[in-house]
Amino acid sequence: MSDKIIIFDTTLRDGEQSPGASMNIQEKFRLAQQLVKLNVDVIEAGFPVASTGDFDCVKNIADRIKDVQVAGLARTNKKDIDAAWEALKFAEAPRIHTFLATSDIHMKHKLKMNREQVLELAVESVRHAAKYTSNIEFSAEDASRSDLDFVCEVFEAVIKAGATTLNYPDTTGYALPEEFGEQVRYLMENIPSIDKAVMSVHCHNDLGLAVANSLAAIKSGARQVECTVNGLGERAGNTAMEELVMAVRTRADRMHVHTDIVTEQIHASSNLVTSITGIHVQPNKAIVGANAFAHEAGIHQDGVLKERTTYEIMNPRDIGLTEGNIVLGKHSGRHALKQRIESMGYTLTDDEINRVFGRFKQLADVKKEMFEEDLESILMDEVLRIPETYKLLSLGVMSGSKTLPTAALKMIIDGRELEGSAIGVGPIDATFRAIAQLTKTRSKLLYFSVNSITGGTDAQGDVLVRIEDEGKVVVGQGTDPDIITAAAKAYLNGLNRLVYLNKESK
Ligand code: KIV
Ligand code: ZN
Repeated sequence: MSDKIIIFDTTLRDGEQSPGASMNIQEKFRLAQQLVKLNVDVIEAGFPVASTGDFDCVKNIADRIKDVQVAGLARTNKKDIDAAWEALKFAEAPRIHTFLATSDIHMKHKLKMNREQVLELAVESVRHAAKYTSNIEFSAEDASRSDLDFVCEVFEAVIKAGATTLNYPDTTGYALPEEFGEQVRYLMENIPSIDKAVMSVHCHNDLGLAVANSLAAIKSGARQVECTVNGLGERAGNTAMEELVMAVRTRADRMHVHTDIVTEQIHASSNLVTSITGIHVQPNKAIVGANAFAHEAGIHQDGVLKERTTYEIMNPRDIGLTEGNIVLGKHSGRHALKQRIESMGYTLTDDEINRVFGRFKQLADVKKEMFEEDLESILMDEVLRIPETYKLLSLGVMSGSKTLPTAALKMIIDGRELEGSAIGVGPIDATFRAIAQLTKTRSKLLYFSVNSITGGTDAQGDVLVRIEDEGKVVVGQGTDPDIITAAAKAYLNGLNRLVYLNKESK
């Protein structure tokens, strides 16, 4: 049997560090449930000391999610480690993940510490964590730009202090695959107690090499890879889980290792992360991009029809892509809908089923065919709904080639019904101006996009906005067969998130 690669998923921690990717407690919990279905080995649920909101999210996952290790991040100080443990202590398999930089650049300019001090602090912190658990990961931040012999010294010392996983991050995404592989090999050969710990890597994608570097590290003996769904993460992101896993699987002939990931859950996981964060993957993104299995050239189409493997190195079914996923029609009953929702991985209360069913019927009345994507968008709205300080009651818009675009709307704001209207450059501008007047928001619209969820002119419009208020950036999403209404919903969803975020961080 080949060696197993431990998949450490950090979508909820490093992934959330992507600008605009902040997730609330229910969204993180829902994503953690999906990560269990994907069968990741470790979920890094957050950085408990960072805020009470972060602490609560980690605790909520640690307390309620089973069949997976749950990790919490901590700097190398007692306060961070104590907070991490407090959040993690009821998890089935808790892991404290503590980190300290080892590169000369970081030690000199950021930490203002010398090597002896860093070594001592690393050991002291791991010893402190060991009072709570034997599952301890130590990361040498900016390791790939550190003196390798110093990293060996630190890793050897932390193993003796109780660390069971040693993480070697390419924090700045600077390394090249061959070089990174050599570095990991050097560590494997020069840490005397390496057999008592698992070697892990955590690569950033600044040069687009995170997956390649992780694969090179595996070749050199790393047995844990840290990654995120859709490659989300700080700056250019982290190793994309789906790419790493499918590379290991598709090229098992050369890699000689395996993961325990249920690859059929990849597509659903990617969609969920997109829905929650509002960050779409580019169409040509490997594995999960809309074009990843689309064949445009006639010669290719012809080849695939004759024999799929002529141009396909992976079977789309292996990542959970199925064709013709028409879900149900307007005559479908509550029971059929419930079954379909369960097959999509959701477990809902009766009240939630009733709400989803109501929305489903409304949409099915105006749309001929209902796709899984339509149902997913209703589920996102109804199940992961955040409290609605602002709620749209009705919207009327006038526009046309000879008409001054005007929007009139009714809203409920903090329980009070209010009406407003505005004119604008176009119908969406008019709608947003009317909303801004009524809500008195000072937020700035950073980004606006419209897509259709499925094909056809009766498809639902899916609008995404990114808005900023006092340095906080949130994403708002709205779907509706009418794109102006979808835009209004997206804007209000963003504003509601801002209110929620401000309350959560207090
Ligand atoms: O990029 C990095 O170095 C990190 C560490 C905390 C592992 O995210
Ligand atoms: Zn990172």
